[in-house]
Amino acid sequence: MSSENLHEAREDLPEDIIDKHRAITSLIEEFDAVDWYDQRAAVTQDAELKAILIHNRNEEMEHAAMVLEWLRRRYPVIDEHLRTYLYCEGDILEAEEVATGKVDEDEAPAAGTSRPAATAAGDGSLGIGSLRDA
Ligand SMILES: [Fe+2]
Repeated sequence: MSSENLHEAREDLPEDIIDKHRAITSLIEEFDAVDWYDQRAAVTQDAELKAILIHNRNEEMEHAAMVLEWLRRRYPVIDEHLRTYLYCEGDILEAEEVATGKVDEDEAPAAGTSRPAATAAGDGSLGIGSLRDA
């Protein structure tokens, strides 16, 4: 555990919290790498290096998505929020207002477009299966 910064004594923490800490740390590192590659790609004058850096940045995004999915499966609250905000269209803050009932979905300016994908699919899924079948 030398590369991880626990804020409580290791022996006090259950194994699932340690694994979540590992995943969260990895997610931070993946997005840090995305940021680093973005900056380097933006300033290099070498077109081949730029292409490599962008390729590498995109791979870090894939890694981040994988870790995020692992976390989503283990944190119901993260799952709930991702279902609200991912793939919504229109104003993101309005999606919150619709989700919390502050604004009726039918009255929101972007009515029908800020619903979570699972609701839009109507079957509780995120529609991933249909993408794979395409
Ligand atoms: Fe990575």
